[in-house]
Amino acid sequence: MATHSLPLVLVTHTLPAGWLDSLKNSCRTLTGPQDATVLSLQLSEHLADADGLFALLTIRVDQALLDQAPRIRVISNMAVGVDNIDLEACTRRGIPVGNTPGVLTNGTADLTMALLLSAARRLVAASTDARQGRWQTWSPTGWLGADLHGATLGIVGMGKIGQAVAERAQGFGLRLVYSNPTPRPEIEKRLGASHLPLSDLLRQSDFISLHTPLTADTRGLIDTAALKSMKPNAILVNTSRGQVVDAQALLQALQEGWIAAAALDVTDPEPLPPSHPLYNLPNCLIVPHIGSATWNTRQRMAELACENLLAGLKGKRLPYCANPEVY
Ligand code: GLV
Repeated sequence: MATHSLPLVLVTHTLPAGWLDSLKNSCRTLTGPQDATVLSLQLSEHLADADGLFALLTIRVDQALLDQAPRIRVISNMAVGVDNIDLEACTRRGIPVGNTPGVLTNGTADLTMALLLSAARRLVAASTDARQGRWQTWSPTGWLGADLHGATLGIVGMGKIGQAVAERAQGFGLRLVYSNPTPRPEIEKRLGASHLPLSDLLRQSDFISLHTPLTADTRGLIDTAALKSMKPNAILVNTSRGQVVDAQALLQALQEGWIAAAALDVTDPEPLPPSHPLYNLPNCLIVPHIGSATWNTRQRMAELACENLLAGLKGKRLPYCANPEVY
């Protein structure tokens, strides 16, 4: 086949060599910069001719973008979350949207436990104090934190990642409760987690970990009332999406001691600007959206995103489709 007859795919970001190998013989690719937050100008000029789009979660795919891309027949997001994409607009246009569930479950659950442990045992403060010369002696009351063993972990959203967190938490001797739009008895049995309405979970939990997708129902789910209902010793961990938590309410909760601490992989906005007051709080640990950031996981995500893309270009059903109603 002559090269020019191959479909054109816009890849919004530069990715490591090898991650997109499977596209090589099946399409022509045009690639954006490494850290794009919007579709780069060089790429948007080619939207009119593009057959496919390979996107990361920092790129907003909305009606305005689709209007410039009359030929596009597949959008593949290298992420499990698809809140950066207007799914309804894609469905209306008959465009399937791919995502990458499963392969980042363990990586994200590992990071959740790392955040939970770091916040509970105050690792950042302890490490900073040691480096800065404040480790004078073994202090019986220095750097005291919270035990995991025997404490209650409330998991909000019992999907794949929520379950992987529950599996890990069992090993730490945590009591498990969860809330989910529908109770899942088979999971309760396997993981020994009890289903609770969200309001009860928030009141009872020592640690609360968020694992919901960002939807109209979950935006701002953890608001002032939710934070006020938590225990004063509660630690909130968020590895889902920043906008699930009302950032202003969280700031006040941490400043005024409604809860003890927060550990955030995701924020609102993202990236959180360096001047943001949350960074000044000793009881707030923030990392830059690294839930899936291991070499293996990110490579698997890229491979899955390629599988989706190639299927879509061939007119086949995407192996992982975020808008199956398109079919
Ligand atoms: C990461 O946040 C993802 O949705 O894959």
